Amino acid sequence: MLTSPQGRTTLSPHSNSYSGMGDVLAGRRKQSILVVEDNPVNAALMKEMLVSRGYPTVAVQSAAAAEAEIRREAPDLILLDVVMPGKSGYELCRELKDDPTTRLIPIVMITGLSAREDRLQGIEAGADDFLTKPISPEELFARVSSLLKLKEFTDELETADSVLCTLGLSVEARDPYTEGHCERLARNAMDLGRFLGVEEDSVIALQRGGFLHDLGKIAVPDEILKKGSDLTPAEWEIMKRHPVTGEAICRPLKSLRLVLPIIRHHHEHSDGSGYPDGLRQSEIPLLPRILQVVDIYDALRTARPYKPALGHEQAAVTMRAEARSGLWDQELVAEFFAMLDQRRQVA
Ligand SMILES: [Fe+2]
Repeated sequence: MLTSPQGRTTLSPHSNSYSGMGDVLAGRRKQSILVVEDNPVNAALMKEMLVSRGYPTVAVQSAAAAEAEIRREAPDLILLDVVMPGKSGYELCRELKDDPTTRLIPIVMITGLSAREDRLQGIEAGADDFLTKPISPEELFARVSSLLKLKEFTDELETADSVLCTLGLSVEARDPYTEGHCERLARNAMDLGRFLGVEEDSVIALQRGGFLHDLGKIAVPDEILKKGSDLTPAEWEIMKRHPVTGEAICRPLKSLRLVLPIIRHHHEHSDGSGYPDGLRQSEIPLLPRILQVVDIYDALRTARPYKPALGHEQAAVTMRAEARSGLWDQELVAEFFAMLDQRRQVA
């Protein structure tokens, strides 16, 4: 936490591990394929063809077995039969495409000869491509090869995301008093987003925002960053640039589209006294307001060289008073404490 020249409570962010980091460092693994086909002869045949081309392949015979396999190890491509006992291929496809953790896995639906109806349903369910039975090896290999290239490309974009989040953590690491801040922020912001019922895409953006909101501090010199409080007006001007710098670093990545407003606006105040744009109340987009509430709480609960850590109740009293005075979104502050109460009751 920082104290501005106006003597107001402001925020300093920052942690030291990110779940995507392992993927960044692990190097490229061989892409794998999951075949979901209830007919064991067809399943074995397809698996044999794919293995003969060097693709690690697992074959399962139901949607339930496919779900278990995906949980165990997510494949890079799924070949999915339409007609299966239990959950159909369409249902499984729709569920996988609705889930942010699996939606980027390409799915090829395997349809019967009267393909038109099947294809329309498959398109509706979000399938990426189709194969018609009986499957010709040439067609199978052509589809598999082009979709795996696409998957490689999306994985690289994901990796770029992870690199930026890792950089965000390196900024946090420059401040020894804020250890674990980004991770707590990411978790609490996601939980508050879900508690409020925001879309899953926005929940993911809040998680990224936890790691990336202070990325722009990479351009703030150590002597200013480590000072923490009592900045001169000139130093304060440099510090205040970090939301705009962070937004500029992340702007080229389309996958971070929803995170950009979080980065730019996480220091706006409801009464218009914040920065960089002096937005007021609902002019500040919802996602930065959500992140801001969990950020303030974390800052109040953490000890710094110039202030002790507050207990939960003291932090709640302080935040409610600051919200009433016009700094934070009162409704969101109330929702945040309702969420924390609910979490404590469950625990
Ligand atoms: Fe910040």
